[in-house]
Amino acid sequence: MKEKYLNIKDFADVPGKGIQETADYFQAWFDQMDEYQMNAFDITTSTATGREVVVTDHYGEDLITAKSFVSSNYLGLNTHPEVKKAASEAVEKYGMGTCTAPIIGGYIDNHKELEQKIARIHKKDDALIFSSGFAANIGIAQAILGKEDLAIVDKFIHASMFDGLANTNVKFFGHNNLEYLETNLQKAQGNYKTVAVIVDGVYSQDGDLPVLPEICKMAKKYGAIVIMDDAHAFGVLGENGYGAAEHFDVEEEVDIITGTLSKAVGTIGGYVTANKSIIRYLRYYSRSSIFSASLPPAMVAAASKAIDLFTAEPQLKDKLWENTKYIKSRLADCGYNIGESESPIVPIKIGDDKTAKLVARKLLEKGVYIIPAVYPAVRLRDSRLRLNVSATHTKADLDHFVDSLNEVNELLNFKK
Ligand SMILES: Cc1ncc(COP(=O)(O)O)c(C=O)c1O
Repeated sequence: MKEKYLNIKDFADVPGKGIQETADYFQAWFDQMDEYQMNAFDITTSTATGREVVVTDHYGEDLITAKSFVSSNYLGLNTHPEVKKAASEAVEKYGMGTCTAPIIGGYIDNHKELEQKIARIHKKDDALIFSSGFAANIGIAQAILGKEDLAIVDKFIHASMFDGLANTNVKFFGHNNLEYLETNLQKAQGNYKTVAVIVDGVYSQDGDLPVLPEICKMAKKYGAIVIMDDAHAFGVLGENGYGAAEHFDVEEEVDIITGTLSKAVGTIGGYVTANKSIIRYLRYYSRSSIFSASLPPAMVAAASKAIDLFTAEPQLKDKLWENTKYIKSRLADCGYNIGESESPIVPIKIGDDKTAKLVARKLLEKGVYIIPAVYPAVRLRDSRLRLNVSATHTKADLDHFVDSLNEVNELLNFKK
């Protein structure tokens, strides 16, 4: 009999096995995956995350120079000289970490300045910075929504927001499905203290957008608030790059916006922005802020400079979109299933994770670095290559990607 193909899901909760036994048993997955030689932690890069990286492949082939498509460094700001300079100057002035939480002395002047900048950009009163986008989402969701509240969430929201909903009531609506949303809102009437509709500004695995104006309108009709995670939209969408609310012209209608500084901004950190009293409340009730050291000043200074740069240099965003359009049209012409992406996240649907890993491995041999998205980032059997386009890619890089993909498809015939 053919041996069962093990999926990473098979090790999440193994009946009758404690953690040590489960962790040891997890070896079975690595033994199986060794055949495909594409485990993320067996590959390192020894260069800045940019359009070209040096990959050390611990399976044997050392130091492959590859074009990289793994990072959400959409505008290439992580290596911009002015961003690096801002960080170095902040290191000189403030040292490295603050070594304490914002609420107990780790709140410095450049945190406050960045918060005010972010609030202005999103047309809100105030903002609060966290040490990551994950910390922002989990922290605000836990603080805002409790046992007598309800979160009505698009089923494709990011795990970081979802994980913040463990202590509240949750109803899912089908992705962008307004009918399901309305049914949930109707049923919720009068039964909860706060009802929040939660969406992403760009969905991180399919790269599509929420039907935001309609969602906001419907939420308001039923007295619900709207929370949006703008992680992949900030720096990318909208006339100034200020995100999905700017793109759809609904800044007033989205009540609470969270975001990250780790994607287009090129650094690390997260934020939430909203009205004055909500932010003041969150400063004291978001556990991932009050019980965690504040964002290092160098990262704050770098993020602030990066935001100034993408505001002043819209050509960065224009180049990102030019690249995005170009590669999407090439991939579509070649017959790949790239879903309904409306952003620089381009999924190339494959199906099972085994094939996705094998495709990625073959691409690496051709000088293309991309790690496949598999469960739990996507549903089982919905594995894909998730291509992240950047403004720094050249046309030759994008052609190299598509040509290499075609060569691998000749070999593996994975096109869906
Ligand atoms: C949609 C979305 N929200 C939040 C996050 C978390 O951001 P960070 O990397 O800053 O923790 C991510 C990161 O992958 C994301 O894709």
